[in-house]
Amino acid sequence: MTKTIAITGKGGTGKTAVSALMIRSLSKKGKSILAVDADADTNLPETLGCDTVKTVGDAKEALQAEITKPRPDNPDMNKESILKSKVYEIIEEMPGYDLLVMGRPEGSGCYCYVNNLLRGIIDKLVMNYEVVIIDAEAGLEHFSRKIIRDIDDLIVVTDASRRGFRTAERIHELVDELGSNIGRIHVVANKVTESNREELVKLAGDLKLNLIGMIPLDHKIEEMDIKGVPLFEIPDDAAAAIEVEKIVQKLGF
Ligand SMILES: Nc1ncnc2c1ncn2[C@@H]1O[C@H](COP(=O)(O)OP(=O)(O)OP(=O)(O)O)[C@@H](O)[C@H]1O
Ligand SMILES: [Mg+2]
Repeated sequence: MTKTIAITGKGGTGKTAVSALMIRSLSKKGKSILAVDADADTNLPETLGCDTVKTVGDAKEALQAEITKPRPDNPDMNKESILKSKVYEIIEEMPGYDLLVMGRPEGSGCYCYVNNLLRGIIDKLVMNYEVVIIDAEAGLEHFSRKIIRDIDDLIVVTDASRRGFRTAERIHELVDELGSNIGRIHVVANKVTESNREELVKLAGDLKLNLIGMIPLDHKIEEMDIKGVPLFEIPDDAAAAIEVEKIVQKLGF
């Protein structure tokens, strides 16, 4: 059975960092992982230390062009198998995980047909893995597009701000309203310090959020970021890595 975990939250709260640290932790446990960068502003590959450029968005554009082009020479072109082979070509096989980058949003025109094909292809693809980790963009539009149908655990990352927590609360409400196929929703507070820790626990309690972890503001992350070292290489004893390990265990790994 595949477990699908999506990470969302307000912009800049640390969604990509949390995704990368979770992928790191799960890969150390020997899980077979599909990492999905579902943010149009692709950051996950760099954070993981992978300089891939191929995206599903590009594959979709290419297929869309094929579909709209008259093909008297090959009217029986099997569009699904073309898109499938394009998607499988894009998957980057890295040590410890595979990576799929969704990439740019679609251009104008109707992509319903291509998106339907893509949904079917991705549904089958995810079944090849034990865990799928999705670095989703801020906002909830991607849930209505539902390229990935079922999510077991939705992690809403918030920073140590009231606004971040409010966003988490809104996401809770929206998920309820949309009736999406989401199993459980958790909140992770990120960039926590000793001076705000207690307040944040109280705030989460007041808003009835299911706080699953509190990742400290970690100077190691800041240092790695500025030096351009992928976060995937963070040492085991870094405070943020230790807390993410606990979160991963709470999620059942
Ligand atoms: N626990 C932490 N300690 C210190 N710095 C952190 C921590 N978590 C994230 N950061 C830093 O905060 C910045 C934003 O993090 P990140 O890019 O992961 O956020 P994001 O939510 O994915 O942003 P976006 O909305 O742009 O996708 C980065 O510079 C990252 O290195
Ligand atoms: Mg990001």
